[in-house]
Amino acid sequence: MLAKTVHLNDAEATRKLGMLIGENLEPGLVVALLGDLGAGKTTLTQALAAALGIKEMVSSPTFLMLSEYHSGRLPLFHFDLYRLQEDMQSPSALFQMKSDMDEALLSNSVVVVEWLNLWEDFAADYEQLRVELRYLSGSNGREATFSASGPRAQALLDRITAGCHA
Ligand SMILES: Nc1ncnc2c1ncn2[C@@H]1O[C@H](COP(=O)(O)OP(=O)(O)O)[C@@H](O)[C@H]1O
Ligand SMILES: [Mg+2]
Repeated sequence: MLAKTVHLNDAEATRKLGMLIGENLEPGLVVALLGDLGAGKTTLTQALAAALGIKEMVSSPTFLMLSEYHSGRLPLFHFDLYRLQEDMQSPSALFQMKSDMDEALLSNSVVVVEWLNLWEDFAADYEQLRVELRYLSGSNGREATFSASGPRAQALLDRITAGCHA
C-alpha cells in the first residue's frame, strides 16, 4: 500500500512534485491545490507548467483569478479563487469562474485551481486530484496529502504516488 502523504523538505521538493504531476497530467482533469498562504501552491503550479513545456513565466494569478498558458503540450488554465471571497455579493463572479472552468475542460485543457476548497459546492462537480499542502511544525518543510475523485483522477494519483516512491 502506497502512502498518500509525502514530505517536501524544501521548495525543490515541491517543484519535483509539481513536475511529476505535470508529466502525468491528462486533458480534462482538475488539480485542486489546497493549503494556507505560502504553503507552496503557486510554486507547485510553476513546476507543473514547466513540465507541460510552458515557456511563459507562471505567476500567482491572485489579482486576475485566471491566467491561461498555451505554449505547452496541453493548455493550462490556472485559477486562484481566493479573491472570490470579496466578490461574494456578486454570484455572477462565481458563475463566471465555473463557466470558464467548464469551457477549459471541454477544450482538452488542464485546470489547476488554488483555493478550490473555498467553493466546495461547485468543486464537487469536477473529477479532480486534490493536493493539500501543509506547513510542518518544527521544520521549514511542507507535507502534501493526495486524494482523488473519479477514475481518471485516481489513475493519475496512482501514477504520482508510484513516482514519489521511485
Ligand atoms: N516544501 C517546501 N519547504 C519549504 N519552503 C517551500 C516549500 N515549498 C515551497 N516553499 C516556499 O514557500 C513559498 C510558497 O509560496 P507560494 O508557492 O506562492 O505559496 P501559495 O501559492 O500556496 O501561497 C515560496 O517562497 C517557496 O519557495
Ligand atoms: Mg498562490
